[in-house]
Amino acid sequence: MSFFDTVIDRRGSDSEKWRKYADQDILPLWVADMDFAAPPAVLAALHQRLEHGVLGYGGAWPSLTESVLTHLKNEYAWHIEPEWIVWLPGLVSGLNVACRSVDGDVVTAAPIYPPFLSAPHLSGRRLNRVDLACTGTRWHWDMAALQQATRPESRLFLLCHPHNPVGRCWSRDELLALAGHAEAHDLIVCSDEIHCGLILDEDKRHIPFASLSPAIAQRTITLMAPSKTFNIPGLGCAFAIIADPALRRRFERTMLGIVPHVNVLGLAACEAAFRDGGGWHRELIAYLRGNRDRVAAVMSGLPGIRMAPVEATYLAWLDIRDLKLEHPAAHFEAHGLGLSDGTAFGAPGWLRLNFGCPQTTLDEALRRFERACRAA
Ligand SMILES: Cc1ncc(COP(=O)(O)O)c(C=O)c1O
Repeated sequence: MSFFDTVIDRRGSDSEKWRKYADQDILPLWVADMDFAAPPAVLAALHQRLEHGVLGYGGAWPSLTESVLTHLKNEYAWHIEPEWIVWLPGLVSGLNVACRSVDGDVVTAAPIYPPFLSAPHLSGRRLNRVDLACTGTRWHWDMAALQQATRPESRLFLLCHPHNPVGRCWSRDELLALAGHAEAHDLIVCSDEIHCGLILDEDKRHIPFASLSPAIAQRTITLMAPSKTFNIPGLGCAFAIIADPALRRRFERTMLGIVPHVNVLGLAACEAAFRDGGGWHRELIAYLRGNRDRVAAVMSGLPGIRMAPVEATYLAWLDIRDLKLEHPAAHFEAHGLGLSDGTAFGAPGWLRLNFGCPQTTLDEALRRFERACRAA
């Protein structure tokens, strides 16, 4: 039995995912955390940190910074300077700080993780939204539409890379096209790379947007975290990487008085995950590939359901428009399954299914999914 086969009862715990349907027989496959324990190396580091006993304000220390630098070098051949790192309690904070630090309209592409759509408005910025194109089940950029959506007032481009919810790991050519667009329109790019450790296709690699060239790095705010890959989002530890000193100062100034210190347990977990989590991570990816293939196999046999290939993330993006359901998420809840409704992502008629769970949970979820489809 694999580490990832262990079913851990999260009912009645602090889990946002599980408490939504507390007393109902509804399997929650919505919010993006996984039902797996964190890597043993991370838990050991947390125990060790707690043994110290004092939990005062903290900040990054040299071996933690080193673990980030080494991780980026080994995983993505990306070399950064220690001073480019700005620690954050989460990526959503980072998206909002980015919107507030760059003066002008914001461009982003839907469907998209909902905070990309709300952060511009919360920050008093106008949002120019473009739709990603979908040919068959393959999502890609419509560069002509992006060109049209980018106004003279546009200053910031919010990129989700890899993309939640469509599961694409953007290729070098696609990234170069986006980089060319950013340069032509003098856009700052905020690249949310929270899912970069979750590339499932064996023939694909994550390429940090800022690593395309030194010139692109100068106009990029990269947001990263160990949180999705190592399943520790509740520890609230993330970072921005900003090479340009003036942009970094603006970003840091915007954070002042609003964005708190990163908690010391999150920092300890981050170092352990990046330094000692490699073996666990490899096993996780193999397990998630198996889950992805199970989901894809079931979906391909269901009339009226189309699923985009999941190159990255543990999130399947399902086109259920042919079922003609008035309230898709409610229909699946009535059949014991809690999924994310596409409406919040700017795509009514689609659902997002989180397959980051033990196979027994997933198999039961897929049985319920099939029943719900038959009843539609
Ligand atoms: C693309 C993306 N960005 C950010 C987040 C959340 O980041 P955080 O919890 O660090 O605010 C998520 C969570 O699902 C996500 O998918």
